[in-house]
Amino acid sequence: MQYQKLKQGLPCPLTDDLNIQLIQQDDFSDLVTMLKNPNVTQYLFFAPSPVEVYEAFFMPIIDNTREAIANNEWPESPTFIIRNHSGEFIGMVGLSPAMMLAGNFDVGYQIAEHAWRQGIASTACKFITTLAFEQLDAHKVSADCYAGNTGSIRVLEKSGFTIEGRQRDYYRLDNSFDDRLWFGMSKADFKKLSSKSIK
Ligand SMILES: CC(C)(COP(=O)(O)OP(=O)(O)OC[C@H]1O[C@@H](n2cnc3c(N)ncnc32)[C@H](O)[C@@H]1OP(=O)(O)O)[C@@H](O)C(=O)NCCC(=O)NCCS
Repeated sequence: MQYQKLKQGLPCPLTDDLNIQLIQQDDFSDLVTMLKNPNVTQYLFFAPSPVEVYEAFFMPIIDNTREAIANNEWPESPTFIIRNHSGEFIGMVGLSPAMMLAGNFDVGYQIAEHAWRQGIASTACKFITTLAFEQLDAHKVSADCYAGNTGSIRVLEKSGFTIEGRQRDYYRLDNSFDDRLWFGMSKADFKKLSSKSIK
């Protein structure tokens, strides 16, 4: 991956068909459109929400990303948008610092429904995990999801994460509750995976 180019806010290939780029102001409306789809929001605790909630979440990230690009630094919460070569919005993947723990990050991803089941979330999750360990001095990357979110569980497993915990009845569903699953990868796990994939 061309990290220097990405850090400058430029698009880089994620796959032969897709580009990835740090989030910009112009991406916001596509994110909101994706988050209007109930199939996308089924397992997202923060959605559906009024647009103001998304603004309150994404605008500080977009502003910080603009400043970071100008200073040739990675943003505090590196958030990337995936598009195809026609510029069509495909999805997002991001890292956020976990609480105030240096070197700890949480991963998140959402793919627009028209692009599901093509391996994109798995590729994006591997990309962002590698970025965390290789560029951000991460020692631990975590992710959590609803126990019913089979697709997300599979994405994490395919990306090399292992399950580390389960909180029962954590998330509210329409007429019941769902467990929260915690996944993680340590730097040692990442190194082991990288050495295996090189062999
Ligand atoms: C979950 C989500 C990210 C999966 O994205 P994707 O790009 O379709 O995932 P991939 O194509 O990389 O698929 C990875 C694996 O999961 C499987 N999978 C994907 N969606 C699935 C689903 N709904 N049910 C069962 N398996 C599913 C794929 O078959 C693949 O497994 P395989 O390689 O063993 O066949 C996508 O459906 C999405 O964005 N959902 C809404 C937002 C969301 O839930 N985000 C995650 C929050 S934790």
